[in-house]
Amino acid sequence: MKRDFLAVTDFSKEEIYETFRIAKQLKADVKAGKEHHYFANQTMSMVFAKPSLRTRVSFETGMVQFGGHAIYLGPNDISIGSRESVKDISRVISRYSNWIMARLFKHEHMIEMAQYASVPVINGLTDYNHPCQIMADMLTIHEHRGTVEGQKVVFIGDGNNVCNSFLNFAAVVPYHFVLAAPEGYDPDPTTLARAKAAGISTIEVIRDPVEAARNADVLYTDVWTSMGQEDERRKRLNDFQGFQINSELLSLAKSDALVMHCLPAHYGEEITEEVIDGPQSVVFDEAENRMHAQKAVMVMLAKSAGAQIEM
Ligand code: CP
Ligand code: NVA
Repeated sequence: MKRDFLAVTDFSKEEIYETFRIAKQLKADVKAGKEHHYFANQTMSMVFAKPSLRTRVSFETGMVQFGGHAIYLGPNDISIGSRESVKDISRVISRYSNWIMARLFKHEHMIEMAQYASVPVINGLTDYNHPCQIMADMLTIHEHRGTVEGQKVVFIGDGNNVCNSFLNFAAVVPYHFVLAAPEGYDPDPTTLARAKAAGISTIEVIRDPVEAARNADVLYTDVWTSMGQEDERRKRLNDFQGFQINSELLSLAKSDALVMHCLPAHYGEEITEEVIDGPQSVVFDEAENRMHAQKAVMVMLAKSAGAQIEM
């Protein structure tokens, strides 16, 4: 009966909108000091093979707000794949905890973890995707614009895990997604093809950030060197020249365009400090929404498994 959240495509369009509705309600309730102990005395084991600020703190805090507790397992605690196999980690945690949240390198490991877990598994980023991030990002756009449909979201930079999740979202909910990436930094080809084949969103992959930025409703970027790619940093710094979100590029977008970044940001590389600190930036709303969106995802998974939660 358990249900996982490993990719945005695990949810239907209706479920995504329901997640947004619940997230907005949970957000308002937190701000009003209203508590919902839906997961009282439950634990979430959080398996991190990579570093994190937002994912760790938002899940841990969210779990406390739900009346439960989260356990942080860092890279040196369980050494996935070397000290212990993924399937054994998954089976053991399932005997103690009610939830697994994992941040792993290989997406296949995430799938394996979900396969062997008897409790819900939530993907907190792999080399392939970052679905919780995109739920929070689209929630942020929905809050600021009242809709995501028809919005032109322009991702300037690497066709990475975050970009793949934007494409997965485009396979379920219609919007206009444009990636401007240098040659050699395209997203996962299967994911791109599947998003295009879904036929509901307008999807473009182009090379010119200037052309991409024109008429944008949202300008989005992420680091040029993702976690695990540190050896390529020098080459990437060179290859991404011209792909920075700065005031000049922002001036080409719609005058009220939103600026977004999943964070952590590398000022002076993919974005300037001036733009993140500027009036069009919703970067910290976006970071905050990680928690509300993820809590809503948990409610959705629990309800699918039969929990009686009225919201
Ligand atoms: N955006 C994001 O996932 O941040 P962390 O890597 O700090 O969790
Ligand atoms: N693409 C980045 C996202 C960090 C939240 C990375 O994988 O490091």
